Amino acid sequence: MNPDQPIGVFDSGIGGLTVIHALRQLLPQEELVYLGDTARLPYGTKSHRTIERYTLQMGELLQRHQPKLIVIACNTASAHGLPALQAVSPCPVIGVIEPGAEAAVQHPGAIGIIGTLATVSSGAYEAAVLRHDPTRTIHSVACPLLVPLAEEGWFDDALTDAICRRYLEQLPPEVATVVLGCTHYPTLMISLERSRPGTRWIDSGQVTARAVDHLLRGSLGYRTAGSRGGLTVQLTDASTRLKEVGSRFLEEALGDIEVVEI
Ligand code: DGL
Repeated sequence: MNPDQPIGVFDSGIGGLTVIHALRQLLPQEELVYLGDTARLPYGTKSHRTIERYTLQMGELLQRHQPKLIVIACNTASAHGLPALQAVSPCPVIGVIEPGAEAAVQHPGAIGIIGTLATVSSGAYEAAVLRHDPTRTIHSVACPLLVPLAEEGWFDDALTDAICRRYLEQLPPEVATVVLGCTHYPTLMISLERSRPGTRWIDSGQVTARAVDHLLRGSLGYRTAGSRGGLTVQLTDASTRLKEVGSRFLEEALGDIEVVEI
């Protein structure tokens, strides 16, 4: 595989731009292609079969760019579609769950997982944590209202605080570490912190960027050009608000968006 080929990153929508942000900070020289399935978002309310099928289709679309690596930035797609895509992809594929679980077990005590309904009901985080440490206690809470709040941009808002508190009070007090098991949640950090002060939050995007770095340092190789890598953004549907909301997730201005047909 040519190390100058891009890294393909896919998400159910634009939430995965938080993972792109982490990748661009850690690996600024890498060329990135982002594919967001905005036409079919959300994945978090759908069944295993549907999410797996969508994941395979997104992987196929990314192959047009001949990526050296595919990152499934979406927790829900990682939970339901990772093995299926790994089985057919010509390049390596990683998801966000394994890096998030591995980071969580570095800290002692019970672990909390928050995510979409489909991620939590898959049990994928529990399985990954228990593979690393079979003695660990895990508490998972599905937080379906947090994705729309993030998309609405209510990042510092009393209503977001109240909803976060309502979800997070389901976690027992002994949980000291909570994995943000959804692409959108890092943008709600202010409310999450206010709702459960003293918690150690694991941002699965940031730890996944470190996992990508590890793979590139190994057999995949870093891009050879020293210049800053570009970012191509492709979506399966582009509505008017996407640019504004996407820029908030990316923490920089979102350039041109290409719309691709599924
Ligand atoms: N990207 C999804 C995730 O990380 C959240 C949005 C959705 O439900 O599709 O789980």
